[in-house]
Amino acid sequence: MIEIKVECGGGYGVFIEKGLLRRADELLCAYAGAAKYCIVSDGNVAPLYLEAVKARVLALGAEVSEFVFPAGESNKTFATVGRILEILAGLHFTRSDCLIALGGGIVGDVCGFAASVYMRGIRFVQIPTTLLAAVDSSVGGKTGVNLGSLKNQVGAFWQPSLVICDPDTFSTLPEREYRNGMAEVIKYSAICAPELADKLDGDICEIIKTCVQIKSDIVSRDERDNGERMLLNYGHTFGHAVECASDERIPHGMAVAIGMMMACRVSERLGICGAEVADRTAALLSAHGLPLEADEFSAEMLYGAMQNDKKRAGSKVTLVLPRRFGECALHTVTMDELRGIMIGADR
Ligand code: NAD
Ligand code: GLY
Repeated sequence: MIEIKVECGGGYGVFIEKGLLRRADELLCAYAGAAKYCIVSDGNVAPLYLEAVKARVLALGAEVSEFVFPAGESNKTFATVGRILEILAGLHFTRSDCLIALGGGIVGDVCGFAASVYMRGIRFVQIPTTLLAAVDSSVGGKTGVNLGSLKNQVGAFWQPSLVICDPDTFSTLPEREYRNGMAEVIKYSAICAPELADKLDGDICEIIKTCVQIKSDIVSRDERDNGERMLLNYGHTFGHAVECASDERIPHGMAVAIGMMMACRVSERLGICGAEVADRTAALLSAHGLPLEADEFSAEMLYGAMQNDKKRAGSKVTLVLPRRFGECALHTVTMDELRGIMIGADR
């Protein structure tokens, strides 16, 4: 079993192994140890894995309940969090009890946010069932919900107590969702691990390990996203704009792929990198079935969607731009400069 330590919050482990769900009770006993658990999942994941996880919790002699909400970004809302909080109150959950997020990034973000506010914070465990959640969203403690069309506008930093990653769960993942996760894997390679790009068809546990180790190192140094952690947002500033403009028709991973290509073009335009970075990035994304552009949205539309970006501070926004493939840097520009750059880069 692979174990990666994350030095955030109280410090916690990310455990990765095929078939690990079958041993979830051992990890829950060692790192959560609650008397009551509530498993939060979505309508696609619950029929596949909820009973198996429930059985492992019952094997601990703990009480277990569940909350299942419909899958999809449109349910990543305050209303869903409110329902979870009401259920926890109805079950007389106390601060020593624990939530379990069983699903992809949406379940993890919603469940983690509920955990962060119930009684001012209770523990939660992440069980990611998508590649995207395994390599990114289940680690690092960003939780939250959308506010209308504004992505992840409301949330909290709230670290899990434990992450249990069983890549066998990806066997039921629609291919499109697997590709979404590959976009985040390629992101890690592009920001600091160029050698990972040559191993994308290798052992999935090793791929997840590499990504989680990078994320763990970065968030352990900058939990609150004040500096280095912003590098993990490569492709996200432009990507969130694509997600918003498409009314969530383009999912997160694909939007990040398009966002990375936009960042490459902006970087090239600013003279920070050469054309070979976009070429290398495009080749990798295409090889994994990911889109490179979203022609239907004009630069004006995307700029409009970026007005509410969380990475904006006053009249400035910090972009993550590549210097070369495998190295990115932060670059702060005014919103007016960004408008000029984007419209110039729209080709
Ligand atoms: P998701 O949670 O919507 O999961 C994708 C789809 O796959 C859903 O329909 C889900 O029901 C289904 N699914 C999940 N696991 C499955 C399985 N094993 N078998 C069959 N179906 C399965 O999306 P995602 O791509 O995992 O996550 C995207 C979300 O994560 C976005 O809301 C994004 O903002 C957020 N995110 C958060 C962070 C963070 O640091 N907190 C980082 C990246 C992304
Ligand atoms: N997904 C970017 C971060 O966690 O910071």
